[in-house]
Amino acid sequence: MRVQKAVVPAAGLGTRFLPATKAQPKEMLPVVDRPAIHYIAEEVDACGIRDLLIVTGRGKRAIEDHFDRAIELEQLLRKTGNPRLREVQRLLDRLQVFYVRQGVPRGLGHAIACAERHIDQEDFAVLLPDDLYLSPEPALAQLISVAEQLDAPVVAVVPVPAADISRYGVVAVGEEVRAGVFRVLDMVEKPRAEEAPSHLGVVGRYVLPPEIFAHLRRTKPGAGGEIQLTDALRALCHSRPVYAVTLVGERYDIGEPLGLLRAQISFALQRPDLRQGVEDFLAEVAKSIGRP
Ligand code: UTP
Repeated sequence: MRVQKAVVPAAGLGTRFLPATKAQPKEMLPVVDRPAIHYIAEEVDACGIRDLLIVTGRGKRAIEDHFDRAIELEQLLRKTGNPRLREVQRLLDRLQVFYVRQGVPRGLGHAIACAERHIDQEDFAVLLPDDLYLSPEPALAQLISVAEQLDAPVVAVVPVPAADISRYGVVAVGEEVRAGVFRVLDMVEKPRAEEAPSHLGVVGRYVLPPEIFAHLRRTKPGAGGEIQLTDALRALCHSRPVYAVTLVGERYDIGEPLGLLRAQISFALQRPDLRQGVEDFLAEVAKSIGRP
């Protein structure tokens, strides 16, 4: 596998964040002072990938504006010597960002299918902006290195408590071919806890071959009437070896409000300029919670 392109599906409606997402994309909600999708673009950049395709839809214009030059703003920051200038420009100098529209949000599988023309018979990475990682090595880099070594598609998985498993695509796994890497035998989208084939849920990082598009074309609407990526991955793992990788690091599911709050706090604690203030605040909150 050789990964030179990344796809970020960002056309979903973000209903779990309404009304915040009524007039702005979920992917633009900030974690500290960067929109969620900015961290994803940084992760893509950290893997040495230069070609980023974002799948957008109606109401997502702010994403395009974010990854575009803002000449007047840049001039003002330059004039006032504001160090944030670098932050505003850095990714734009490094990534080439492309867009494709998913006219109707018919599911994650359908969003990925919209990338077919751009991917053009290459292997590619998929990153869901709902999943952010704090890890020593970028999450996608960990996945790419396994995909290269095994020359096979890989999906990221996490151990999920039984109570939550029905929210995930779940893998049935065979042997552990190396620490934290399992052969995928089968997959099922959002199983009931008693029917789940394992406790390993698929999360938002994938390295995929171009054959996935043929499988997506054959995929009928599944759970929730959506075209599920899991169904196409299932067909893929029946036609060639696919591996599941448990990533090293802390994952934040920012697709729902509590997950976003947790990410806000953890990411702020990583910041030398904010750490002390956040720690003091948390100590204050902890004390007040303990009070009768
Ligand atoms: P989610 O199902 O978590 O996102 O999809 P959503 O539909 O926006 O969220 P809720 O459930 O209504 O709150 C995971 C990722 O796939 C994208 C979403 O934008 C998100 O980044 N997606 C989902 C698409 O691009 N198109 C779709 O049709 C569905």
